Amino acid sequence: MAPLLLLLLLPAALADLRPEQLLVLTVATERTEGYERFLRSAQRFNYSVQTLGLGQPWRGGDVAHTVGGGQKVRWLREALEPLKRRGELLVLFVDSYDVVLAGPAHELLASFSSAPPPPGLLFSAEGFCWPRGELASSYPPSPPRGKPFLNSGGFIGFAPAVWRLVEQWNHRDDDDDQLFYTQLYLQPQLREELGLALDHHSRIFQNLNGAIDEVVVKFEPGRVRVRNVASDSLPIVIHGNGPTKLQLNYLGNYVPWGWSPEGCGDCDHGLRDLRGLKPEQLPWVLVGVFVEEPTPFLPRFLRRLLRWSYPGARMGLFLHNREPHHQPHVATLWPRLRSRFSFARLVGPEEGLEPAAARDLGMSLCRQDPQCQHYLSLDADVALTHMGTLRALLRQNRRVLAPLLSRPGQLWSNFWGALSPDGFYARSQDYVDIVQGNRRSVWNVPYISHAYLIEGAALRGPLGAGPVFSQSETDPDMALCQRARETGLFLHVTNREHFGHLLVTSNYNSSRKHPDLLQLPHNTQDWEQEYLHENYSRIFQESLYEEPCPDVFRFPLFSARFCRELLEEALGYGAWSQEQPGVLSVPLSRLGLDGLWMGALNRFLAPIARRLFPGYQHKGRAVFSSVVQYSPAPTGEEAPPPPAATVSVSLGLSPPRGGGWRFPRYDCGVLGPPRGWVLLHPGRLTHRPQLLPPPHGTRFALVTLLEP
Ligand SMILES: *[C@@H]1O[C@H](CO)[C@@H](O)[C@H](O)[C@H]1NC(C)=O
Ligand SMILES: *[C@@H]1O[C@H](CO)[C@@H](O)[C@H](O)[C@H]1NC(C)=O
Ligand SMILES: *[C@@H]1O[C@H](CO)[C@@H](O)[C@H](O)[C@H]1NC(C)=O
Repeated sequence: MAPLLLLLLLPAALADLRPEQLLVLTVATERTEGYERFLRSAQRFNYSVQTLGLGQPWRGGDVAHTVGGGQKVRWLREALEPLKRRGELLVLFVDSYDVVLAGPAHELLASFSSAPPPPGLLFSAEGFCWPRGELASSYPPSPPRGKPFLNSGGFIGFAPAVWRLVEQWNHRDDDDDQLFYTQLYLQPQLREELGLALDHHSRIFQNLNGAIDEVVVKFEPGRVRVRNVASDSLPIVIHGNGPTKLQLNYLGNYVPWGWSPEGCGDCDHGLRDLRGLKPEQLPWVLVGVFVEEPTPFLPRFLRRLLRWSYPGARMGLFLHNREPHHQPHVATLWPRLRSRFSFARLVGPEEGLEPAAARDLGMSLCRQDPQCQHYLSLDADVALTHMGTLRALLRQNRRVLAPLLSRPGQLWSNFWGALSPDGFYARSQDYVDIVQGNRRSVWNVPYISHAYLIEGAALRGPLGAGPVFSQSETDPDMALCQRARETGLFLHVTNREHFGHLLVTSNYNSSRKHPDLLQLPHNTQDWEQEYLHENYSRIFQESLYEEPCPDVFRFPLFSARFCRELLEEALGYGAWSQEQPGVLSVPLSRLGLDGLWMGALNRFLAPIARRLFPGYQHKGRAVFSSVVQYSPAPTGEEAPPPPAATVSVSLGLSPPRGGGWRFPRYDCGVLGPPRGWVLLHPGRLTHRPQLLPPPHGTRFALVTLLEP
């Protein structure tokens, strides 16, 4: 055997190594996502891979937490037996669940053949002497700044040399493979005879454990490499050993697929085509909805559930509402929801179910139903505005996938890019780019929340065994993500499309009569959708305004809901005061709504005023801001002129019912504006209006007088 090896170790033979001479052997008992990722990385570079152990029971111990892995050596020995005389054959043995290949075979072979001295078998190296620290002193000296100790998660050697090692295996399946190889390596004679060496400088093998700070992602046109900055190398085999699985997941988002603004790395693998399917062929999905705290715009949220572009026959609904405050909202919409979904179950606050237990219940409904193919968990503070979200998620075909959601204009989102050592939030380098959509793809991340789709099969596997949420000290989403990480499930978030956003719930005061009305500063987008007039933008796009008298303008500003709620707030306030005969009013400040109103005027009226009155600077203060009730004039009395200011704004809160104003200078009258419309005019000198009371019935308006 030895002469054959020596012959092979001649530099000339080494220099001629060809990719066809290389066989990759790996071990996987299950097709985990880590294994599939490894295979995709190998296919990308045309490595030929042979997997050992697929479908067989794992008896190699709990390698994530302790020693073990001997079963791998036994399988390797069985695989090598027929190859042991193939002196030209190079065998690369690597783990699979936590490994990606980052470069092509010719680079790998070049690094191997140029390693000094020419090796027969090269092991990967790391900084920890594991599993027996006391063996450290038996190691030969390692080169400066090199990693001194053997790691058996990756090695490459000629088949006869590898055989000489593994043929000596006579241990148990749960004995430690790394200890086995270490003890062989530490025999000086064998080391010399077989040319055993360690890849001290990560020219081929990058073990991440203990080396995270040495590793950077190097973006090149069309590809991404992992670079070891300590040794200035571009390693090929990237191994997330020990506690570095999440770092590997991070690198695996880019390596080896690359990332570019036009592409999205590895995001298109395994896509499921739903387009040709008939409705009854679509996956059946249970939607779990969780209303666990007072939440702005809940009716809006519930109405959106009715509009998803997915057949109701293929969806079930589990809704947990813990908030008595939201009971009327749910009760109003429940009949429609119940008929929209093929299955519907409501658990209300009277059942006293805790949030974590509710989440466990929802998930178990899917887990226990073999027809439940996916479970979509959705929190009530998610504004899922993309009605095709469910389809988009299903199409992506991942076991766990969240749509990216963030608070508008903020970096707060429903995923974490990295995890701190104690299991909490840490920001990844790409976090901001992902939240802002500068990089779009499907990302493997350590934490997701608020909205996520889980495969039913995953729930029926290790992920769903026993209570997930309620048996934990941590918050429910952290408990779920921790369980997924421990069971080897990848958590993904996609930002390939815009799916919606997250609401801010902390400023919602459910003791108010109309709490949503006060949400303008906190949830502006949702507020606008609910309270701005639907034709507001047409004022600008189509000059949709009227000018019934010179410099007197009318245009739509707020929705009917805005007017109704504002009026209800005012009517609920008892102490109206009489301004003049037939005119009652209540100041907005008494209603606690003056801040809201000025904010709304600044945001929505000011741009219009600037357009209608060029040069107008809206930084005015309101000298008068009240809800006003106009009644028919008492007979025989001429109404005194209403108070005037530089700018007068009057928002119709009720149907007009006649009455309005007259501008004597122009001999011109206008009706009170329709509900939601504003009458805007200058107030002094040229435009001192006369009030025309309604002939019968009452009319309400919100009147504001502004001074610059
Ligand atoms: C892999 O093989 C295919 C087909 O033989 C070839 O087109 C492609 O360029 C190869 N890729 C690499 C990275 O060698
Ligand atoms: C919530 O609204 C109630 C009723 O208007 C009010 O008394 C209370 O101060 C408000 N709470 C907060 C925190 O603003
Ligand atoms: C908005 O404008 C359209 C077309 O002019 C009209 O039909 C619709 O009623 C308007 N919306 C409201 C709320 O007035």
